[in-house]
Amino acid sequence: NYVIDNGGKRIRPALFLLSAKMAGASGDHLPKVAASFEMIHTASLLHDDVVDDANLRRGRPSSKAKWGNQISVLVGDFLWCKGCGLLVDHGSIKLLDVVTKSIVSVTEGVLLEISRQNDVEMDEQGYFDIIRGKTAALFAACCESAGHAAEVSEQFVIALKRYGMDLGMAFQLSDDALDYVSDEKRFGKKAGGDLREGRLTYPLIIALKQASEDEKRAIRDALIADHLSDEQFQAVLAIIQKYKGVDATIQLAREYADKAIESLSIF
Ligand code: IPE
Ligand code: IPE
Ligand code: MG
Ligand code: MG
Repeated sequence: NYVIDNGGKRIRPALFLLSAKMAGASGDHLPKVAASFEMIHTASLLHDDVVDDANLRRGRPSSKAKWGNQISVLVGDFLWCKGCGLLVDHGSIKLLDVVTKSIVSVTEGVLLEISRQNDVEMDEQGYFDIIRGKTAALFAACCESAGHAAEVSEQFVIALKRYGMDLGMAFQLSDDALDYVSDEKRFGKKAGGDLREGRLTYPLIIALKQASEDEKRAIRDALIADHLSDEQFQAVLAIIQKYKGVDATIQLAREYADKAIESLSIF
């Protein structure tokens, strides 16, 4: 109840319901299917805050900060299965197939991210593979599922899936920009988490490509630091800003968002 009461933007169920409406689906079961997406997403956040050692979520102490890792992992599992259960009761086998495959992608994306931790050699392609899996795949599943719920023909289902995938890419790019420049009150999460956890995201990859040897060393030291100091974070942020890493990230997010919108033209 604590986690659910904290709200969140609920963008995934909104995407499902709006896509379903656009595609012409109707029925009492749609809100239940939409809820399953939010439960699956919430499960991934409970686990994510354990993996990322994050103490703030949706503007309040994260579940792992309040109850610890054991409870958070288990409640995450609980929500994950409850979400799938709702699909068994109110969706179709096709829908369950799409959603469970997206959960596999989320897990693979996060594992890939962990395997590339602190790896300053990681390029854009590696980063795109990670965010496609950990974030965009579930966005795509929400939109694709709406197409199946409406029983539209394949080209419309593919368009919805592409829309969700590209929007999800834009979404994670924005989140990764905000992780460097957000104000904590509006973001509801602590800034700097990605650097602290040794995650190479797009703003940093762009900076690393252009950085001098000294700057690269400073970034590498910050990534692997046991305790990232505020000065260290500010120094890396200054390097990122010097090479316009945040601007490039937001620009790319815009391009993905535009591409997403284009996919909907067949509707
Ligand atoms: C957070 O997702 C995880 C990412 C994919 C960046 P949201 O930003 O949708 O989280 P809530 O549900 O609105 O808190
Ligand atoms: C999204 O990545 C995590 C999942 C999809 C599970 P982040 O780790 O960037 O998400 P936040 O910033 O903690 O919400
Ligand atoms: Mg996180
Ligand atoms: Mg983040």
